[in-house]
Amino acid sequence: MEFSTIFEPFRIHSVEPIRLTTPDERRAALEEAHFNLFSLRSRDVMIDLLTDSGTGAMSRDQWAAIQHGDESYAGSPSWELFKEAVQEMFPFRHVIPTHQGRAAEKILFAMLGGPDKVIPSNTHFDTTRANIEFTGAQAVDLVIDEGRDPASRHPFKGNLDPVKLERFLTEHGRDHVPVIMLTVTNNSGGGQPVSLQNIRDIRDISLAWGIPLFLDACRYAENAWFIRTREPGQGHREVSDIVREMASLADGMTMSAKKDPLGNIGGWLAMNDDELAAQARTLLVLTEGFPTYGGLAGRDLEALAVGIHESVSHDYLQYRIRSTAYVAESLADSGIPVVQPPGGHAVYIDAKAMLPHIPPLEYPGQALAVALYETGGVRGCEIGSVMFGRQPDGSEQASAMELVRLAIPRRTYTQSHMDYVIEVCQRVAEQATDLRGFRIVREPPALRHFTADFEPV
Ligand code: F0G
Repeated sequence: MEFSTIFEPFRIHSVEPIRLTTPDERRAALEEAHFNLFSLRSRDVMIDLLTDSGTGAMSRDQWAAIQHGDESYAGSPSWELFKEAVQEMFPFRHVIPTHQGRAAEKILFAMLGGPDKVIPSNTHFDTTRANIEFTGAQAVDLVIDEGRDPASRHPFKGNLDPVKLERFLTEHGRDHVPVIMLTVTNNSGGGQPVSLQNIRDIRDISLAWGIPLFLDACRYAENAWFIRTREPGQGHREVSDIVREMASLADGMTMSAKKDPLGNIGGWLAMNDDELAAQARTLLVLTEGFPTYGGLAGRDLEALAVGIHESVSHDYLQYRIRSTAYVAESLADSGIPVVQPPGGHAVYIDAKAMLPHIPPLEYPGQALAVALYETGGVRGCEIGSVMFGRQPDGSEQASAMELVRLAIPRRTYTQSHMDYVIEVCQRVAEQATDLRGFRIVREPPALRHFTADFEPV
């Protein structure tokens, strides 16, 4: 017999208290944080949906594995276990452990970037873009048009547009494009998946041009689950098998193990090219550590080895993807515009559609994120003109979309937490016309969303 309720496929093993706050306390916290939600103390947040990165709950087996951690500087058995777990899923010749995803990006683009280079992707994540631009190279997003339309129901809105890519390569020439990146799932574009067919198509282009293809593969398991459930002919396959095929179509990958591998910290860079790997290990030793631990403790490597196996469990992924969709559907049913169809790790509210009276450069996403915190202590994250508006030449340009991301930590919150979040969103939607925009009063030269100070307009 089939039941319609899909419950959390775990029992709670240890609990973390949530401190309940009042609206007055939250208003004071906002003032003190200059209306930047990254500047809040997390003890002042009740439901923290700022990110799904490193915020998941580890399993009993991961905690047990931590006790096996061997902290040897070189050649630890924890490293062997980690490497085997990575290569079982991602069969690249070289695995280079890093403390998190951006460290892998830093090393990769230090080798491949430079002032005369342009690097395409479906959509570069903000740290990826920043690491590319830091080398003087240019980062270019070539997602399919549907990927920029929050209301489009395309099943794979994360796809990189093969026609745009061909045009791009013809325009810039092979010598200026050192690598093609593909982000799975496409985080900055709404957590949208990339189809296996698209990865195959991009692979063909990469081979034809002789340009390596690298996956930014943080959310590989969620992406593979979408392939299994949405792509014709894939429904019978094991997710682990789909992940291996995704990897086999690329020359390398960057990874933040704080996402699908269910770690609180970690990452890696992997590739087949021997020479590039040797160069990467040299850079690794400068800032991360010896090649058998990178920036990680032996116990972290152990926890990740277990997490990688758990990440492709069908029971887990069914619950994970369904619970995200539940939030998105409930919001949509109450008339709140969300990016459709819902992605894997987050629900994205379309702040431009919800707050049409706030101009893009008065940051409707920021206004909405602040209101969600003030109203209910829910912390989300603006993904719009605050995050992407400042251009490398110093000018400011409105972002294509003004979103607020409610990222859902893995295995951390229950359905009643999410029912509360839905209620908070509904309350804010009722007062939408009263919300005002923001101006930035202070900002750093790069990645301004993390530390900028705001003031209500
Ligand atoms: N690539 C993607 C697609 C990401 O989502 C992230 C991180 C990174 C790379 C960088 O990894 O944080 O381990 O250095 N995304 C987090 C987020 C921060 O909230 O989406 P990292």
